[in-house]
Amino acid sequence: MGVITKKIKGTEDVLPKQSYRWQFVEDVMRKEAQVYGFKEIRTPVFEHTELFQRGVGQTTDVVQKEMYTFDTKGGESVTLRPEGTAGAARAVLEHSLENDGLPIKASYFVSCYRYEKPQAGRLREFHQFGVEEYGTQSPIADAEIICVAKSIFDRLGIKQLRLELNSIGCPECRSEYHKALREYFGSHKEELCETCNSRLEKNPMRILDCKSPICSKIAENAPKITDYLCDECKEHFAQVQKYLDVAGVEYIVNPTIVRGLDYYTKTVFEFVTDFIGAQGTVCGGGRYDGLIEELGGKHLPSLGFAMGIERLLMLMDKQGIEIPKPSSCDLYVATMGDKAKEKAFSLIKSVRDCGLIAETDVVGRGLRPQMKYADKIGAKFSIVLGDNEIEQNSAEVKNMTTGEKTTLALDETFADKFSVLQLTENEAFKI
Ligand code: HAM
Repeated sequence: MGVITKKIKGTEDVLPKQSYRWQFVEDVMRKEAQVYGFKEIRTPVFEHTELFQRGVGQTTDVVQKEMYTFDTKGGESVTLRPEGTAGAARAVLEHSLENDGLPIKASYFVSCYRYEKPQAGRLREFHQFGVEEYGTQSPIADAEIICVAKSIFDRLGIKQLRLELNSIGCPECRSEYHKALREYFGSHKEELCETCNSRLEKNPMRILDCKSPICSKIAENAPKITDYLCDECKEHFAQVQKYLDVAGVEYIVNPTIVRGLDYYTKTVFEFVTDFIGAQGTVCGGGRYDGLIEELGGKHLPSLGFAMGIERLLMLMDKQGIEIPKPSSCDLYVATMGDKAKEKAFSLIKSVRDCGLIAETDVVGRGLRPQMKYADKIGAKFSIVLGDNEIEQNSAEVKNMTTGEKTTLALDETFADKFSVLQLTENEAFKI
């Protein structure tokens, strides 16, 4: 197969027969975000490269190694978004959304691009659903966004997903921590990878989430941030846990969680599963009180999370969670002859106008293959229209499951009568 009929490594197609799975989880996410007061924001797929360098952080793996960055014909450096938070924050700033009242609560669906080594659950183009809340330092907000994620997982019937929680403090408590890390990693300087050596001075915390096996092994015994939290950060963390307890959300405190992006402060969390292999983090997020300021705005403490839709679907698959398949055809109208074709076309239009799914032959098949096709697409009811039916202006509607037949007039009452028939027979069949 030539290159133009092969998708790019690390990307996936969602085919028509699978898309209902995406639509189902997206509907649940959209609905749950609404219930918690979030409204959708849509931002461009590319942004100025500097936004991610400043927002996500110069010393992160994402910025140092994984961005799809290119120069436009106009000579600007732009980058395909590696995540949704920076773009949403840029839009909040650009449109001064804080003037509409705080907190600002935004949710989004985004495709993201990271040049990582593809493996199960790790793609170069992947999709996230996320929420961001701007303009609150209250620990209630931390618990609130965690509840949004938890509610989505519960509604989807996902089990055995651990919520792991940590606090990585504020810039003040972090300066002490950085000192301790520099000292610890400094004694392993020779073993650390080149990138981590360069991080040692600038941002030693980033060494903690390096993917190289040697660096991660060394990181296991590194000092823990929780031993360096200032009183305010400690109190905030205690309050977040209290509100999670109030909401009945279970969690474990995991002091090794630091997250791979630079903007985080205080609370960070991940929902992790053992069902889908090494890439078991389905959702990650936390507070980022300094990001809006870093991008040139006023102090606007904020927080959010994003979940990977591919990983979520993998997890549901592994847990055997069935996603209801939507009906693909309520009525198939098979035809013999030109007059029947015309009649069928007007009948399916009237049935479709009632919001039901109706199909007729559009490829020129004979009657038998048409009926085979009706079976294949799972038509619930079918009609065969030939010269007789046209002459008598009536036809038998066949229930494809029970074989039961009902005669309906082929006039303007057809669609209404068919709607009633399919409702009653479907209900009767369910009972
Ligand atoms: P993140 O942890 O980089 O955080 O990504 C969030 C989720 O996206 C991950 O938990 C995972 O499910 C999915 N994901 C990440 N990389 C890949 C990949 N290469 N292939 C497939 N799925 C992937 C963020 O992106 C932050 N912006 C989250 C956030 C929002 N924090 C505050 N607000």
